[in-house]
Amino acid sequence: MKSLVLWSSRTGNTKALAEAIYDALPGEKEIGEEGRISDFSGYDMIFVGFWAFRRGADMVARRTLSSIHGKKVAIFGTAGTYPDSPAAHDYLENAAALLPDDSTCAGTFICQGRVHSFHVGKRNEHAQKVHPMTPERLVRLQEAEKHPDGEDFKKAGAWALEIVNKL
Ligand SMILES: Cc1cc2nc3c(=O)[nH]c(=O)nc-3n(C[C@H](O)[C@H](O)[C@H](O)COP(=O)(O)O)c2cc1C
Repeated sequence: MKSLVLWSSRTGNTKALAEAIYDALPGEKEIGEEGRISDFSGYDMIFVGFWAFRRGADMVARRTLSSIHGKKVAIFGTAGTYPDSPAAHDYLENAAALLPDDSTCAGTFICQGRVHSFHVGKRNEHAQKVHPMTPERLVRLQEAEKHPDGEDFKKAGAWALEIVNKL
């Protein structure tokens, strides 16, 4: 039983979540940045991480997901939006739909992740126009600011362990 944990991360949230998943996994395991490992043949379970970008998985993770053939794949992500929101559900569902037909999705996990200030619009007029600040958005971003936290890491680790224990 050998697991691989892959991450794509722009500001470190998803990488930190990947490390928590890696730490929780039993047995033989490896961790690496997406794009650097392309031979998946030696692994029984592959965890693929994404950060939410334009209402879906980021582009690197999209490429990774569509390139894994004949494997069980578990998908995790971090996003500015709430983990129990319809948007988060869609990100995960759309990410799973990218897997080739000969791979299966073994489970999904998502939590919030601090949104970099550039995107929030503190310093960027264009971003401010695209995503105008509303009271709801401000509350969501303030909550995202605290994540991923210790509880998220614990939940992600337990989620990953449950998946490999089912194998
Ligand atoms: C350019 C950009 C686009 C983003 N788009 C979304 C989005 O569509 N939905 C969302 O929930 N979060 C979005 N976010 C928030 C990030 O997905 C979130 O902060 C994530 O935790 C960043 O992960 P990282 O630190 O691993 O890069 C966006 C962030 C950036 C910088």
